[in-house]
Amino acid sequence: MKAPILLTPGPLTTSRRTREAMLRDWGSWDVDFNRITGRIRANLLKIIHGEGTHECVPLQGSGTFAVEAAIGTIVPKNGHVLVPVNGAYCQRIAKICKYIGRRFSTLDYPESAQIRAADIERRLAEDPSVTHVALAHCETGTGILNPLAEVAQVAARHRKGMIVDAMSSFGAIEIDARTSPVDAVIGASGKCLEGVPGMGFILIRRAVLEKCEGNAHSLAMDLYDQWMYMEKTTQWRFTPPTHVVAALDEAIRQFEEEGGVAARGARYAKNCDQLISGMQALGFSSFLPRAVQAPIIVTFHAPADPAYEFKRFYSEVKQRGYILYPGKLTQAETFRIGCIGHFGPDVMSSAVAAIADTVKAMGITRIAAAA
Ligand SMILES: Cc1ncc(COP(=O)(O)O)c(C=O)c1O
Repeated sequence: MKAPILLTPGPLTTSRRTREAMLRDWGSWDVDFNRITGRIRANLLKIIHGEGTHECVPLQGSGTFAVEAAIGTIVPKNGHVLVPVNGAYCQRIAKICKYIGRRFSTLDYPESAQIRAADIERRLAEDPSVTHVALAHCETGTGILNPLAEVAQVAARHRKGMIVDAMSSFGAIEIDARTSPVDAVIGASGKCLEGVPGMGFILIRRAVLEKCEGNAHSLAMDLYDQWMYMEKTTQWRFTPPTHVVAALDEAIRQFEEEGGVAARGARYAKNCDQLISGMQALGFSSFLPRAVQAPIIVTFHAPADPAYEFKRFYSEVKQRGYILYPGKLTQAETFRIGCIGHFGPDVMSSAVAAIADTVKAMGITRIAAAA
């Protein structure tokens, strides 16, 4: 059976070239492998125009490892993180702070509402003890885009550190370190760069990183130590995910050939448009207003019909060649469909056709969500 296409926000569908880059084994001490690491670090910095101001520190593990490492390394033990929350990944930032013993406050929004820079401005004015703002750029729990540039300006005006979880936006939505003052941008290999999962990376302002010695709560999560070791030896501090690194290098090559952030973002936007219009034609409605929807992942209301059941829906669509994603909302029954990965709008149309076929096979007639 042909492998189904992943319509999920990472792991996602990769190109054959990217997968083939993993067919060779690499020694972690070998100079050729370390050259790849060096190239990736330089290329990732270019994506946010951070050459000269920022340093790229890669880290083994999933995206959350990178977020935890960033908070633990950058926020000193007596720091105070303001976390605006409009979804599950923002909540995870707050949870990380709690776990590792960093003081935090949240600014809470409904999951369908964008975070507002003016609210952050007010909070920073009221509470001078806040030292950092930590924002999820695209809140993948719903697919909402948060206003990074505005929030970064507010944080800079108040001289606060700005930490951005750009896991699901990095490489598809522009982040410009020259105009958006960010202390740290966190991304991962298996998202919009279309690599495979297994490592994260944190782009940290050098002037900030230089002062982070001794902050980290954990040896493995200490980005200062990882950076220092890499600078001295060109090697990873502990066993690197060699195949993931090789695949990311090849994936970045294809990203550049495609035309970088603008081209990748444009392809995903077309995917997203095609998906939403196709699903609307079937009677599905998306959870978010179009104006705040990022072209990364779309949350749809589940049909109100009693014949609908997510498990069966998932497996019927899978049999037709596509992997969907469950919803992550507490307030409404939903499911999600990713727009990111190595495919274009034609795949979105075929996925919508597979969903139409599934709806019929399951005998679902009422697609509109319950009021
Ligand atoms: C915005 C955001 N932050 C953090 C993560 C956590 O990544 P992981 O599940 O790889 O640990 C994700 C994963 O999709 C994400 O989308």
